[in-house]
Amino acid sequence: MTDLRTFLERVRETRRSDLLEIDHEVDPRYETAAILTKLEERQRSPILQFRRVKGCALPLVTNVCGSMGRLAMALGCSLKDVATRYAQAAEQQIASITVGEAPCQQVVLAGDAVDLGMFPQLVYHADDADAPYITAAIVVARDPETHRTNLSYHRLMIAGRNRTGIYMEKGRHLDAIFGKYVAQGQDMPVAVFIGAHPAWSLGALYAGSADVEEYDVIGGLLGEPLEVVASTIHPDLPVPARTEIVLEGHVSHRDTIAEGPFGEFTGYGTGVTRTPVLHVEAITHRREPVFQDIVSGHMEHLVLSMPALEHRTLREARKVTAGVSRVALVAPLSAVIALRKTDDEEPRRLIEALLEGDIYSKQVIVVDDDVDPNDLRAVMSAMALQTQADRAVHVLPDRQGTPLDPSCSSAEGRTAKLGIDATRPLRAARAVTRNRIAQDVLDRIDVAALLRRR
Ligand SMILES: Cc1cc2nc3c(=O)[nH]c(=O)nc-3n(C[C@H](O)[C@H](O)[C@H](O)COP(=O)(O)O)c2cc1C
Repeated sequence: MTDLRTFLERVRETRRSDLLEIDHEVDPRYETAAILTKLEERQRSPILQFRRVKGCALPLVTNVCGSMGRLAMALGCSLKDVATRYAQAAEQQIASITVGEAPCQQVVLAGDAVDLGMFPQLVYHADDADAPYITAAIVVARDPETHRTNLSYHRLMIAGRNRTGIYMEKGRHLDAIFGKYVAQGQDMPVAVFIGAHPAWSLGALYAGSADVEEYDVIGGLLGEPLEVVASTIHPDLPVPARTEIVLEGHVSHRDTIAEGPFGEFTGYGTGVTRTPVLHVEAITHRREPVFQDIVSGHMEHLVLSMPALEHRTLREARKVTAGVSRVALVAPLSAVIALRKTDDEEPRRLIEALLEGDIYSKQVIVVDDDVDPNDLRAVMSAMALQTQADRAVHVLPDRQGTPLDPSCSSAEGRTAKLGIDATRPLRAARAVTRNRIAQDVLDRIDVAALLRRR
């Protein structure tokens, strides 16, 4: 059985340098985020295990998924195969199985015993709201019409012993489900789990049809069914049996709260918004639980989102043309697509479909498939050497983007979008040749012998 604990144990045994255990007392207010920042400045991104957290009896672990290498390890594949492995798992889903008793319910706290003050009171950035946040929170909800469950991460701003703000981005599945409860004048029952094996996190982030059960994608990623248990107050909301902590409650269809500012994945905070309130009615947890955290806007936040978002972009791109070979999300809201095109209009169609289809697609660059989309120098070279801007640049004004984009002038996230077709024309306007040295000449050169002679 795999869970956060078994993953941490494997890292400790097999990738010792990926784990930093910190024994002195740390302040959850700014200090843990500062430690991670300092390490990232030195190109280091280990898992951080804080044994003593000021004002809190629980140990804290952050940055579990802070490197693609660790995600590859969790999926049992090499670094270059993460995208393929993710796609396979999404195709070969494995249904979860329900168990009657579970470690995550070893301790049950309800009523007056509920106190979110028992968790580390984490504040990250100098300009964030002066309120603690829970960021590694995976929210489980059920669609009242389709009865499908949905999993997704949502930042929770602690606003009292048993209340948090919950940020649900417009247009995402949880927001759509919440809208259905609101339309019926009802609160949305939720269970929120904290403490996940990286494969659970990657599965929870699956981005695609709402008909897909994220628990089944997790099974595909693990190669075995995930064991789940009914949460104590909502029997139809399953949570992973071996998670660390579960918050059970409901999101009010009426109450809202001022939430933020909060430094997001873009590296920016975009002010205060009003979000619905999550009322926590019960907390269940394992004995001696570990509290998991993700420092917002840092490496882990980006790395963790990558497989699911690249998979979605690849799927959407291939609906337009089968010639798409690779997708790289090289920066927030920015995708580079490698394409073997069959007509010169194909890149434009691809650009329009992607920019229109997703609020997180703001810039799309299409390159020929002999260009590595992850190699930004190669991409810039293609833009400079294969394109004429008056034909290659497509601007789509006033489209729906994300309000988390700091350049949007309105809180609604309306934005202009940009596409660049950096592919060579199929028929070149004038004869050009690519610098090339004939293979037979290359074959005559013995580099090893040349270097030995030095
Ligand atoms: C660390 C982390 C934090 C996130 N926080 C939020 C959040 O606060 N609100 C939100 O709407 N989406 C958040 N997301 C993104 C959603 O989890 C993601 O869009 C969702 O899993 C996929 O959307 P779907 O359910 O519409 O398919 C976060 C993602 C990560 C990796």
